[in-house]
Amino acid sequence: MKRRFAVVPGDGIGVDVSREAVKTIEAAAEAFAFTAVLDSFDFGADRYLRTGETLPPGTFDLFRTYDAVFMGAFGDPRVPDMKHAADILLGTRFGMDLYANVRPVRCLHDRLCPLRDFRAKDVDFVVFRENTEGPYAGVGGIFKKGTVDEIGVQEDINTWKGVERILRAAFQYARKSGRKRVTMSDKSNAMRHAHDIWQRLFAQISAEFPDIEANHLYVDALAMQMVRNPAQFQVIVTNNMFGDIVTDLGAALQGGLGMAGSANLHPGQTSMFEPVHGSAPKYAGKDVSNPMGAILTAAMMLEHVGLAEAARAIEEAVVSCLDAGECTQDVGGKLGTAATGDAVARRLREVPRVAR
Ligand SMILES: NC(=O)c1ccc[n+]([C@@H]2O[C@H](COP(=O)([O-])OP(=O)(O)OC[C@H]3O[C@@H](n4cnc5c(N)ncnc54)[C@H](O)[C@@H]3O)[C@@H](O)[C@H]2O)c1
Repeated sequence: MKRRFAVVPGDGIGVDVSREAVKTIEAAAEAFAFTAVLDSFDFGADRYLRTGETLPPGTFDLFRTYDAVFMGAFGDPRVPDMKHAADILLGTRFGMDLYANVRPVRCLHDRLCPLRDFRAKDVDFVVFRENTEGPYAGVGGIFKKGTVDEIGVQEDINTWKGVERILRAAFQYARKSGRKRVTMSDKSNAMRHAHDIWQRLFAQISAEFPDIEANHLYVDALAMQMVRNPAQFQVIVTNNMFGDIVTDLGAALQGGLGMAGSANLHPGQTSMFEPVHGSAPKYAGKDVSNPMGAILTAAMMLEHVGLAEAARAIEEAVVSCLDAGECTQDVGGKLGTAATGDAVARRLREVPRVAR
């Protein structure tokens, strides 16, 4: 069995954590007897500053020849306008039409749960974030820039097709994964034009899934409820910007940004996987960043390409490392980035032969 992955470590700690994700996939490949081809690409700030190129022409066609794409993180203080990050990260999401940004919010250890009255088991839901529309579509402009009359406009794009497919993806996921409730979040009370479509389509699509409870929260109430009682959530579906924001809150519920993984999916097509965190430039190359979000992202990627057993083993190895305190400082350990990756890989290599 062979799977081919394109790996784009990117900038800052993206490079550090991607190295550990690759290490983990290689260990999983040994343990579960599959071949992982991992081709690395240097798209990022260094290359952009050196050549002026962000993504060469034909990159998306090239990515589509792989089973999946893994990305680290993008962002570099030498590129203040974030041109390369926009082209590479948003460009891939939009250019490959990866419309479902799937972000699990799962706390893997009681010690990581920041809420006094809750335990790890109470934080276990998945956010489906629309990934190709909203204000991030970039429709707008700046008028009279730099004058006192300056006007900045950025439109919130919500299309029938875009909203319908993310809602459907959330319900289908709930049904397939045995989850019983989908919560849709918008701001249709204030954004009466832009978000009315979410209300109408949610009513329509939820009716196709009578076995799944459908409920709704305005995004401000959602933020409050995520902190008051995260155990009530199973699947949350929302738009691009709200999904971006509430999954950082979600990351805090699972032990911090270093623990959060994500997938950017277009079912049936090559998809892209990346940790939720950014490039944290001040920690770059210092062997301090937590690679577990990237490692859990690698597990999501393996599951997506039909290697569910290997994916589960990676998750178990991460939990075992957290239990043993073999992890970075942000999650209560003393190890560096590379030693944490080694600890996960060592556990995978110890998977009993019978499971291979
Ligand atoms: N997906 C992406 O590539 C992405 C996402 C967010 C931000 N960014 C970019 O990254 C750069 C830095 O942005 P930022 O500082 O707002 O966000 P960030 O996620 O890079 O870091 C914020 C803070 O979170 C913590 N953190 C993040 N990842 C961690 C990890 N793996 N281990 C331990 N701690 C971790 C650190 O304390 C860090 O200072 C900016 O250029 C930003 O635009 C990129």
